[in-house]
Amino acid sequence: MSRLAVIIPAAGSGSRMGTHTPKPFLTLNGKTILEHTISAFAKVDEVVDIRIATSVDWFDQVEAILNKFADDVESASVIEGGDERQHSIFNALQSLDNSIDLIAVHDAVRPFVSAELIRKCAHRASEVGGAIVAVPAKDTIKKLGDGFEISETPDRSKLWQAQTPQVFRADLLLEAYLKAREDDFLGTDDASLVERIGGVVEVIEGDRKNLKITYPIDLKVAGLILNEEDL
Ligand code: CTP
Ligand code: MG
Repeated sequence: MSRLAVIIPAAGSGSRMGTHTPKPFLTLNGKTILEHTISAFAKVDEVVDIRIATSVDWFDQVEAILNKFADDVESASVIEGGDERQHSIFNALQSLDNSIDLIAVHDAVRPFVSAELIRKCAHRASEVGGAIVAVPAKDTIKKLGDGFEISETPDRSKLWQAQTPQVFRADLLLEAYLKAREDDFLGTDDASLVERIGGVVEVIEGDRKNLKITYPIDLKVAGLILNEEDL
């Protein structure tokens, strides 16, 4: 059985949500979004290590949440985040030891990920190097030039929206992060860092329920999903 660590970036300020409290610490049905998210990973036997990246102001709160999962994993800890998502993940990556085979990265603000999807993604990553959850693009995507004029309309049938979890062999992900840092490359997901060093990353078709809570409307949808699950 592979030993899987999960890094959960939770250090963002939530500018698009616009709440004073950062998104991972907003509550849904009495539990923080972060706790809902950690629960999914704690159910997966392969997950032995959980690392949460956040700002120092939230360390106590995260430690209290992690205590609830102490029996599910070998190790669970909080790491200081950085100015960008990529920096938050880099800090957590550097804190891992070499007993870990696979690393999953998962946004704190995707609380509806299923244990089954995590397992599927981890299994495929162990076979090919990297695997990420994605869904086919439902909207036509327009590429713009410098202004608002459209320069290109890529064929939608080839476009997928990347989500998390994104799982990689540990050595491959570390190499990708070190190279990105050396080149001052900032990506919007983890796979893009691995792709640019020639690593193989496959897509696993995911679930539209695995939404990223980004705007106030997403919080409303999240509330509806939870109420439906409680029925
Ligand atoms: N994140 C992080 N460190 C950062 C920025 C983001 O750990 N410097 C985390 C967020 O907390 C979130 C995940 O990365 O769990 C995905 O980011 P996003 O949804 O963009 O959250 P925010 O950056 O907080 O929101 P916004 O972009 O609207 O400010
Ligand atoms: Mg952001």
